[in-house]
Amino acid sequence: MIKPLKKAIFPVGGLGTRFLPATKSMPKEMLTVVDKPLIQYAVEEAYAAGIEEIIFVTGRGKSAMEDHFDHSVELEQTLERRGKTTELELLRDMLPTPGNIAYVRQQEPQGLGHAVWCARHLIGDEAVAVLLADDLVHGEVACLKQMADVYREVGGNMIAVMEVPHEHTSRYGIVNPGAAKGKLVEVAGLVEKPAPEKAPSDLAVIGRYILQPEIFALLAAQGPGAGGEIQLTDSMARLIGRMPFHGLRFEGTRYDCGDKAGFVEANICLALEHPATGPAIRQTVADIARRLKL
Ligand code: G1P
Repeated sequence: MIKPLKKAIFPVGGLGTRFLPATKSMPKEMLTVVDKPLIQYAVEEAYAAGIEEIIFVTGRGKSAMEDHFDHSVELEQTLERRGKTTELELLRDMLPTPGNIAYVRQQEPQGLGHAVWCARHLIGDEAVAVLLADDLVHGEVACLKQMADVYREVGGNMIAVMEVPHEHTSRYGIVNPGAAKGKLVEVAGLVEKPAPEKAPSDLAVIGRYILQPEIFALLAAQGPGAGGEIQLTDSMARLIGRMPFHGLRFEGTRYDCGDKAGFVEANICLALEHPATGPAIRQTVADIARRLKL
């Protein structure tokens, strides 16, 4: 039986050291692409995939995110008084159903696997999605929805995958690919951040996962892996062969917004597409290219 997929974990406890000083007192997930923080893109993607319950695995200094998904009574009253109904609706539309958002604290940053494990009591015996907000995936159909649609047919575990330059394998979980069927590829092996000469392929795991609850017992027993951290990839590798495990070559563009260059690229590309900024930014980009003779 294919287990229902209604819950999503957002590991948001990371320190964001790749983005200092911006992230000194602000969570990296609150960095804004055009007009929305990264975490909101990820939460909206989860809703698009049919997720109903949101679980943030958070840490010290991350309370801006809790406030972002809550009422701001003063602000709402002011907007109401001023007749700013569009802005008011925008704020109200993004509020989760009361009781459908939960926060679990990861007391120590021990890695992605540990963060996911911290949410175990809220998941129980269900399938769960995991979304890493600094991977912004932009396209016509939300990446997690593409995955959830296939998951509801094939079950098991599923990860979003894409080819990366060979010299970048040490930044990602890398798949040892088995048989392929259209956009689905069987996962025959997984290695976290292998050096290019040791990588089984150039097919990388992107921060979108659908996992079976068996992952939690494996995470509980998981020792440190790459970088001395408890790696989700290592426990996922232990599920291979026990149940279906697929990679989905999703449609859309992935921006690495944990990286300064990737973040700027996301801003430019999404600003070009955004109806409020598109025309002006198109002109600006052309002007800059001319001025700097790019
Ligand atoms: C994490 C995962 C890695 C995955 C990557 C995608 O790494 O551990 O397997 O490929 O996200 O962004 P991190 O970027 O947190 O080091």
